[in-house]
Amino acid sequence: MAIQATSHAAHSSRLPAGVVVQPRKFEFGDLASVPQYWFAGNPIITHFENAFSIMIPPGERFFIRSVRHYQDRVTDPELQDLIRAFIQQEGLHTQAHNQFNDSLAAFGIDVERERAYANRVMDSIERALPAKVCLGATAFLEHLTAVGAHMLFMEPLVAESMPPEMEGFWRWHAAEELEHKAVAFDLFRQVGGGYFLRVFSAVAALLLLALPLSRIARRMMKDDGTKVTHEMRAQAKSINQKLVGPQLRMIAQYFKPGFHPWSFDDEKYLTEWYASIEAGC
Ligand SMILES: [Fe+2]
Ligand SMILES: [Fe+2]
Repeated sequence: MAIQATSHAAHSSRLPAGVVVQPRKFEFGDLASVPQYWFAGNPIITHFENAFSIMIPPGERFFIRSVRHYQDRVTDPELQDLIRAFIQQEGLHTQAHNQFNDSLAAFGIDVERERAYANRVMDSIERALPAKVCLGATAFLEHLTAVGAHMLFMEPLVAESMPPEMEGFWRWHAAEELEHKAVAFDLFRQVGGGYFLRVFSAVAALLLLALPLSRIARRMMKDDGTKVTHEMRAQAKSINQKLVGPQLRMIAQYFKPGFHPWSFDDEKYLTEWYASIEAGC
C-alpha cells in the first residue's frame, strides 16, 4: 500500500490549524490478499460495506457535478482552491474504489451489474432534483461520510475488524473525507442554501439512497452464496450496537439550525494520520 500526494494542498482559514485538503493517490499493495469477508469475518457487514463501495464512484461523480454547477459563482479564491482540491480528492477516491470493486468479482459477485445499477440510481436522482437540492444532498452525504470517518478514527473496534490493507484504504479515504467535509456545505450556504432546503435535501438523499444500498448488499450475498446464519446476525447486531448509536447521534446534529461540519473537531485525528503516513505506516 502506498499513499502519494498528487498536487498542491489547499490551505484555508476556514480549516482548523494544521489541516489542509491534500489530494493523494492510494495504491493497493496486495488486494488479492483481502479475505472475502474482510470486516470482522462477517458477511452481512462486509456486504453492506461493499455495497457502499459500489455506490461511491457514481456518488462521487454526483458530488463533483453538484459542486461544479455552482463553482463559477465563487469569488473567494480560498473556497475556489478548496473546491479544486475536493474535486481532485473525490476523483482519486473513485479510482481506488473502482479497483477494489473489481476485486469483488473473484468471489462471484456481478460487479458490472451492480455498477450499472448504482450509475442508474445516481443519474436518475440527478435528473429528478433541482441543482440546489443536489448540492444540498451532497453537503449532507459529505456529512454522512465524515461521520463514518470520525467513527473509524475514534472507535478502535472499526480498525481492529479489518485486515491492514483495508484499514489503510479506508483510513486514507476517511482522512480525506474529514479534510474536505465542509467544502460542499460552505458552497451550499454561499449560493443561498438555507436551513429548510438543507433539511429537505438531506431527507431526500436518505430516502432515495437507503433502498438501493440494501438492494446491492442483498444481491451480493445471493451472488456469493452467503447463507445468513443466526451467529452471523448476532455478531453483526453486537458490532452495530457499538457503532450505529454514536453515528446516529452525530448524523442528527446536522438538523440543528446552527450546525457546521467543523462543529465536530476532527483535527486531532487528522494530525495523527498525517504523522502516520509521514512515518510510512
Ligand atoms: Fe470520497
Ligand atoms: Fe467526500
